[in-house]
Amino acid sequence: AAYEAGEHESFMHKEMLEQPAAAERVLGGRLDERFGTAHLGGLNMDARETRAIRRVKILGCGSAYYVGQMGAALVEELARIPADAEAASEFRYRDPVIEPDTLYVAVSQSGETIDTLLAVQEIRRKGGRVIGLVNVVGSAIARECEGGIYLHAGPEVAVASTKALTNMFLGFALLALQLGRVRDLSIADGRRLINGLSRIPEQIQEILDREDEIAAVAGQLAAADSLFFVGRVRGFPVAREGAQKFKEISYRHAEAYQTSELKHGPLALVSEQVPTVAIVPDDELTDRNVGALHEIAARRGPLVVVTHEGVDLGEVECTRIDVPRNERELDPVLLVVPLQLLAFHAALQLGHDIDKPRNLAKSVTVE
Ligand code: AGP
Repeated sequence: AAYEAGEHESFMHKEMLEQPAAAERVLGGRLDERFGTAHLGGLNMDARETRAIRRVKILGCGSAYYVGQMGAALVEELARIPADAEAASEFRYRDPVIEPDTLYVAVSQSGETIDTLLAVQEIRRKGGRVIGLVNVVGSAIARECEGGIYLHAGPEVAVASTKALTNMFLGFALLALQLGRVRDLSIADGRRLINGLSRIPEQIQEILDREDEIAAVAGQLAAADSLFFVGRVRGFPVAREGAQKFKEISYRHAEAYQTSELKHGPLALVSEQVPTVAIVPDDELTDRNVGALHEIAARRGPLVVVTHEGVDLGEVECTRIDVPRNERELDPVLLVVPLQLLAFHAALQLGHDIDKPRNLAKSVTVE
């Protein structure tokens, strides 16, 4: 049947709501409870080759790049392999050194983004090994890679990507698990993460069920011309993605910053007119994050805090959005869902074209 928005007022809305089902599909058949690992046959790598990887380099554009940063953190945390993400659009132009024991990972919903495709071709020309995390089966990037993980998010029409990004994160979690379990990640830790991953679809649903509450918060943000999204370490790419989504469809100036860097400059801009959306998960950095909230509140900056139930934010005046708890490593995929809803409802209240924002294309196929 044709893929249509149906009773939804936009594809973006439909696609956000499809996330629990899409998440089930990317995980389906790939979780190995017994050995606490993932099955990713499409990687075309045996255990010996997998163990020989010394570094992971992730390449993507826009939101795919931000999820790539989340993915790099997962690889480092679970597999203890140095990993980082870079904008594919820049990579090729700095004559990158391609190393034989590095695993290159191209990440793309469409599989047609020209900058990512050309980065893949550059790596292969220099003899590097590239795998793809791609949604569209048989797309140019999928064909160019030596193996990979299909995301099975289903068709995505809205320019503002949602369900494909969720599945990219989960794809990276599976990859990190597989890389970790041929190294030092214990079977117990592997099972802990598998258990966490299998709870993600229902936990995304729990957040989506609170759409009305989050829509009311979006109303406060839509009125501002400029706002900050801040987070630290795991929370920083979440903030980047939140700002990206907000910019794309609300046309508001939304800037992402590391919470720790606020005092090195941008705090000068915080005022009653400039709200901040702060990512404050219950993790190793909660106390420091809460300290930064006090600094923002002292400058009268309105605050929306995306956090976990039970996190003590002190006396700070803020609007709080709690997401369900999971394993800390997996937090980003849940923290990002309220940010999608905030961007969507801000744009809706501003009367914008949600699915086709001005100046943007769904996939950027020319340089
Ligand atoms: C996401 O909301 C954006 N529209 C955009 O940043 C997108 O993620 C980027 O252009 C990459 O697209 P791709 O995943 O199809 O390669």
